[in-house]
Amino acid sequence: MQTIHFTHNEAAARAVAERYVTPPLAYVHSYGCQQNVSDGEHLKGVLLDIGYGLCNSPEDADLILFNTCAVREHAEQRVFGNVGALKRLKEQKPELIIGLCGCMVQQPRILDKLRASYPFVDLAFGTNAIDQLPELLLEKWRSGGKRLLKAPVARENIVEEIPVHRESPFRGWLPIMYGCDNFCTYCIVPYVRGHERSRSPQDVLDEFRGLVASGCKEITLLGQNVNSYGKGLAEPIDFAGLLELLCAEPGDYHIRFMTSHPKDASKRLIDVIAAQPKICRHLHLPVQSGSDRILAQMNRHYTVGQYLDLIDYARQKIPGVTFSSDIIVGFPGETEEDFAATLALIQKVRYAQLFTFIYSKRSGTRAAELPDPTPRSEKTARMTRLLKAQDEIAFGIAASLVGGVYPALIEGRGRQEGTLSARLDNNFLVEFAPGTAQVGQMVQLAITGARGTMLQGRLADG
Ligand code: SAH
Ligand code: SF4
Ligand code: F3S
Repeated sequence: MQTIHFTHNEAAARAVAERYVTPPLAYVHSYGCQQNVSDGEHLKGVLLDIGYGLCNSPEDADLILFNTCAVREHAEQRVFGNVGALKRLKEQKPELIIGLCGCMVQQPRILDKLRASYPFVDLAFGTNAIDQLPELLLEKWRSGGKRLLKAPVARENIVEEIPVHRESPFRGWLPIMYGCDNFCTYCIVPYVRGHERSRSPQDVLDEFRGLVASGCKEITLLGQNVNSYGKGLAEPIDFAGLLELLCAEPGDYHIRFMTSHPKDASKRLIDVIAAQPKICRHLHLPVQSGSDRILAQMNRHYTVGQYLDLIDYARQKIPGVTFSSDIIVGFPGETEEDFAATLALIQKVRYAQLFTFIYSKRSGTRAAELPDPTPRSEKTARMTRLLKAQDEIAFGIAASLVGGVYPALIEGRGRQEGTLSARLDNNFLVEFAPGTAQVGQMVQLAITGARGTMLQGRLADG
């Protein structure tokens, strides 16, 4: 694997200056996971670098980019719905450039659909081509406005130093790796994001230092499976080692990370979290199902027993740790018995939060070939049962936090008039009367009450 360095595209910057009297505006919207949000911040950075400005509404834009997600069919339908709505804008403003990028566009069938049915889409480029956007715009202008729907390029390298425009001054996304090699049988991500590639520890550290120096209080390390960080790198390092390296940096910040694949979450990782006060007391550990039979069919490489051992170990070592998880309901062939095992598992673990999805068939994945006789109505009914059980669990955990004092980062305004909202170390949200405290500040909060999973609190003395 090779690292290449981003270089400023002077020809594209000149072309922008020549074509527009005032800086043109770009509207960039990202769908999907945090990795995509982070890519969106880089797309904005690249556009600013060649002289674009940014805007918050498609109506004001000279360039509209949808950075798409392909993980479920619903995500794709939403994008196509929103792209369809842009046709009117293009009619009013023919020089408007409309582009699609991200995970959806990595699939040839999507490019075919764009070619056939969306003539007003000008550009399409995949997840590996963010740094090439200036060249693509240039090519479009030089060709007199040709449509450029690029076939996905497989690039095994990592491009460092791509400019970035961060949305928040106090919460930063930091990708430590790209791609995924796990091929869970339901999942499209390895096909659209390519092979797993880790950034070098030095590159991660440099960006981390930059974030801390700029006053960032919460840094979230990103990867589809952060626990396999380091594979293939010249220097021997694993994710636990990377966390130790980063935590040695002085400063007023804390670290979150996602996503941890349970098959690669080691006891050593738990020990490092336990020993490092800078790492949040929360683990997102997607289990997907509580049935060993289904887990095997999903190609997840762990059993419920192994998963629960890990949870027990983390509970022993990290007092007050909370867990969250992703669950797929209605994987092909999931029986009532399999689903009951999932319900039993969530009662055992007692997750603070669950992200639940009804299985969505993704063409090209292995699970798409499996018979799936369970009717949709049955899957929806299972989902309702799961959500009800989870609500009771999460409400119980929230209530158990009342009376405690926890570190928290103030994120924004609360729902109630005059309050601010902060996220606790363990990932629960709290509303409180701010006094002189401000958004972006770390504070200690005493928890005074709970409404559902929303906590109420007050600033703790000292
Ligand atoms: N890399 C992460 C997750 C990426 S996708 C991990 O391994 O946990 C986020 C979540 O979407 C997955 O955890 C899974 O629960 C869900 N998901 C992925 N493919 C899906 C599909 N085909 N249907 C329904 N849910 C899916
Ligand atoms: Fe998809 Fe599995 Fe990779 Fe997560 S680990 S991105 S669920 S293939
Ligand atoms: Fe979606 Fe791509 Fe993320 S498919 S979930 S945006 S990796």
